[in-house]
Amino acid sequence: MSVQQTAFISLVLLATFQHCACVCNVTCSTDFISALNCSCSVHGPMLPYRVEADCSDVLNRVNGSCEMRPPQLWCQMEPQNFSSILSFGTNCRARVKYPNAEGNELEDYTHLTLYQHIRLLPPLDMQLTEGSGMYNLSWEMAYTEDENFYLTPHLMYRVRIQAAEGLLKVT
Ligand SMILES: *[C@@H]1O[C@H](CO)[C@@H](O)[C@H](O)[C@H]1NC(C)=O
Ligand SMILES: *[C@@H]1O[C@H](CO)[C@@H](O)[C@H](O)[C@H]1NC(C)=O
Ligand SMILES: *[C@@H]1O[C@H](CO)[C@@H](O)[C@H](O)[C@H]1NC(C)=O
Ligand SMILES: *[C@@H]1O[C@H](CO)[C@@H](O)[C@H](O)[C@H]1NC(C)=O
Ligand SMILES: *[C@@H]1O[C@H](CO)[C@@H](O)[C@H](O)[C@H]1NC(C)=O
Repeated sequence: MSVQQTAFISLVLLATFQHCACVCNVTCSTDFISALNCSCSVHGPMLPYRVEADCSDVLNRVNGSCEMRPPQLWCQMEPQNFSSILSFGTNCRARVKYPNAEGNELEDYTHLTLYQHIRLLPPLDMQLTEGSGMYNLSWEMAYTEDENFYLTPHLMYRVRIQAAEGLLKVT
């Protein structure tokens, strides 16, 4: 194996380790209302991990934390004043801290552009009413025009109606 090859392989290994300590490989999603749900895609030691996140837009900064307890590889936090930083320019940094075998604290972190990690809340309280051969379908939304003005113009709800054994089934 040439020196260059060895150097290249070490560099790749180094890059891999720097990029992903891979005890957690943390990422987060948000409902874009109040919650940040952070999860690990890699299963590390069966120890509780502390997850901390801070998010900011141009003006404000908020932070929060939660504890992940394997085997559950996610935890949800509700940073105070979270709604004050929700915009398309919001960035978050999340990190997971955990002890290694020697008891030293290690960390795994990620940077997120928040709006690329939205997991929308589903419509609530769907109702179908019938009258004079017509059906009205209505539902409540977790998102309101006032509080979620960044999001509401872009929301679309897809409703599927199918007849199921004489019943009308709405999904
Ligand atoms: C870590 O997460 C990133 C993005 O979430 C993913 O592309 C990558 O495959 C993950 N790495 C591992 C080792 O799971
Ligand atoms: C948080 O995210 C994880 C992983 O995507 C998911 O399994 C879990 O149900 C989510 N928790 C909540 C409260 O939405
Ligand atoms: C937010 O950050 C401050 C300052 O670093 C820290 O004292 C506080 O504990 C953090 N809050 C949470 C919920 O982690
Ligand atoms: C949340 O916002 C209120 C009102 O703007 C402010 O007084 C309070 O200090 C904020 N809390 C945090 C943790 O930023
Ligand atoms: C359906 O909604 C329309 C408009 O709100 C209303 O006029 C009508 O009475 C409703 N029909 C039924 C069956 O609920």
